[in-house]
Amino acid sequence: MDARNGIGGNPTGTDLRDEIDRLRRERNAIILAHYYQRPEIQDIADFVGDSLDLSRKAAATDADVIAFCGVKFMADTAKILSPDKIVVLPDLRAGCSLEDSCPPDKFAAFRAAHPDHIALTYINCSTEVKALSDVIVTSSSAEKILSQIPLDQKIIFGPDKHLGGYLARKTGRDMLLWPGVCIVHEAFSETELLKLKAKHPGAPVAAHPECPPYILDHADYVGSTSGILDFAAKMPGDILIVATEPHIIHQMEKADPTKNFIGAPGADGNCNCNICPYMAMNTMEKLYIALRDLEPRIEIEEGLRLRAKKSLDAMLAMAGGTVGQGDLGFVTFTADQS
Ligand code: 13P
Ligand code: SF4
Repeated sequence: MDARNGIGGNPTGTDLRDEIDRLRRERNAIILAHYYQRPEIQDIADFVGDSLDLSRKAAATDADVIAFCGVKFMADTAKILSPDKIVVLPDLRAGCSLEDSCPPDKFAAFRAAHPDHIALTYINCSTEVKALSDVIVTSSSAEKILSQIPLDQKIIFGPDKHLGGYLARKTGRDMLLWPGVCIVHEAFSETELLKLKAKHPGAPVAAHPECPPYILDHADYVGSTSGILDFAAKMPGDILIVATEPHIIHQMEKADPTKNFIGAPGADGNCNCNICPYMAMNTMEKLYIALRDLEPRIEIEEGLRLRAKKSLDAMLAMAGGTVGQGDLGFVTFTADQS
């Protein structure tokens, strides 16, 4: 088959996979992918994970190039933690509604208005907001990190009000919440979920904490993407209702093709509104081009990178990541980050 028979002369199908493989070897590249990526991208990746696992992988890799198949804040995080690597993102427009909901100037003003609070910030935010934060958390590490912060310490939690609300309800911590939401998880319908539950009596519901409380109230398990996958692998029954981005179901089906994994519905009961439009921007063809041209590349100004790295290092230390727990001394809860 002609290796150059695709759109614009680029390879397609098996040739595309072969070309990506060849370029990966030639460039000494690692392909990192999030569970919300298209199945073909998950299948060609060297590593598929949740936000915390992907951050750890990016920090530890000895590859020269990181081809990051996820959204921009994830690729930015890889560059912050591995500044000497070339980090490419197949489509630079792959943003995140949570990041968009939290402009750095407004966040800085919010922090300044609450000088006695620390900022515990979800990783789904810009590099500038990370630089304005004390500790970054992911959905898989938030509870563990929160438990290490003194009870009398006042906390701003942003930008996801649903994750913040879930943590506040679960731990009893009263946090000041930034009013951001994920458009994908916001689109689930409680009415449709209840109809689906009635159709499959006894089937458990696994939900991501970015879902609104009226969805989480019906969940048997709430956790990060990797936590949900773990639950799917260990649950006793053979039907699971999945209230998160449906591309994760690819991993569930690979792990156990005998079980039935059903995506929770959106408002019209049958829409594609729970597919993350940003994650979907990355395609195999764009991945091939990114490895071929080493573009589009993530670049971050060094001063900003170093300020953002402090809050990410705090996350890795407190989550039990690449920095040992004994190194926690560098985490200083200062409200003044300007
Ligand atoms: P996880 O860290 O659970 O993979 O979540 C990332 C994300 O963007 C969910 O919308
Ligand atoms: Fe952002 Fe939501 Fe997409 Fe995750 S699913 S990347 S939070 S828009």
